[in-house]
Amino acid sequence: MTYLAADRARLVESIDTFGAMSEQDAGPGITRLAYTPLERAAHDVFAESMAALGLAVWVDAAGNTLAERFGAGGAKPAIGTGSHLDSVPNGGAFDGIVGVCAAMEVARLFVEHDVSHRHPMRFVVFAGEEGARFGQACTGSRIAAGLTGPADLPVKQDADGVSLADAMAEVGIDPTAVGDARWAPEEWAAFVELHIEQGSVLETEGVKLGVVDSISGSTRLLIRITGRATHSGGTPMHLRADAMAAAAEVVSLVESLAGGDDNEGTRTTVGKIDVGPGSITTIAGRASLWVDVRGTDVDRQRNTAREIIRQGAATCARRGVGFEYEQLADTPPVRLRDTLREQLAASCRDIGVEPRVLTSGASHDAQQVNTVTPSGMMFVPSKAGISHDAAEWTDMDDITLGTTALAGGLLRLDASLP
Ligand code: GLV
Ligand code: MN
Ligand code: MN
Repeated sequence: MTYLAADRARLVESIDTFGAMSEQDAGPGITRLAYTPLERAAHDVFAESMAALGLAVWVDAAGNTLAERFGAGGAKPAIGTGSHLDSVPNGGAFDGIVGVCAAMEVARLFVEHDVSHRHPMRFVVFAGEEGARFGQACTGSRIAAGLTGPADLPVKQDADGVSLADAMAEVGIDPTAVGDARWAPEEWAAFVELHIEQGSVLETEGVKLGVVDSISGSTRLLIRITGRATHSGGTPMHLRADAMAAAAEVVSLVESLAGGDDNEGTRTTVGKIDVGPGSITTIAGRASLWVDVRGTDVDRQRNTAREIIRQGAATCARRGVGFEYEQLADTPPVRLRDTLREQLAASCRDIGVEPRVLTSGASHDAQQVNTVTPSGMMFVPSKAGISHDAAEWTDMDDITLGTTALAGGLLRLDASLP
């Protein structure tokens, strides 16, 4: 089987270019949050490189950037690949970026080798994939899939109280017009996303490539606990309404409600707490907790979130503090199509790798896109399974291998899809 070998040096250059784009003074790693000028600047880098190849490039109404290489087969639906360029605060240089750099490299390979494909090939960068800023993940791809619309944007806020609608407007995107970004299913034949694993299955088993069978869902809550801020010395223990102590108990509760040992189980996390007024000599009067419940079983995922609310409210009532919650996001898990996965696995075998079939614990744009067109995912290993941190790392050899397999997978789909 012949295949197009990805160029490692070009991939290194692309990864390094995006790796140099982080907010000034933001600390270690990459900070390039959703719907910021820096995220737009990263999309511009992608757009310029695709335009330089002669591809048609456009930015849709949600801020997703797309590039198309025309197909030789007449009016056929497109096959797409890509990922995202935004990050979490102090995130790594690979999450999302690998899939975009791989898409750029596949475009270069197709142009350089004058590859003829029957379907149009689209290279896509989704906007605002990370839920870190607004709670809801995958904003650009959800809009493309029709899962998020104009009415959702004013109500999602970041930690500074900036709404998603206002953040979009600030970078030149009209939040009332995002409906225009919706993908028409008849325009698409398939979508494939290459991503880092963000777990340690591949590394542990010494396998270089993974193909994904299902992607976890997530239900996210913001819990607000209200106590009474008062003097830490003057207030006897039995007269306190301590929001910090209640929050600690709720954090333990959240952890205790997880189920299962691997990514097929339900995973529960409090990743952020904000407590006030924040003085060593004052009992905390308020605490906010951001809770993320992930699972591959939608009922278990949602029931766990409901249990957190029920038992959390009871804990707070017992402690004499107020309890309120808001659901920030709710995305069900998806099972990806076996037929598409088989083509991607065959492409891995074409280059001598038997891929590991595995479940994604993280959310991805492909999860949203799968509601419009059959989607597949390929994984490359994450060192020590670390992600969403500056220590995130994937070897360039693995990224190069994954990109080669991606190019082959797209061509296999081009040959097999009507
Ligand atoms: C996306 O990166 C997620 O949080 O799963
Ligand atoms: Mn990602
Ligand atoms: Mn991420």
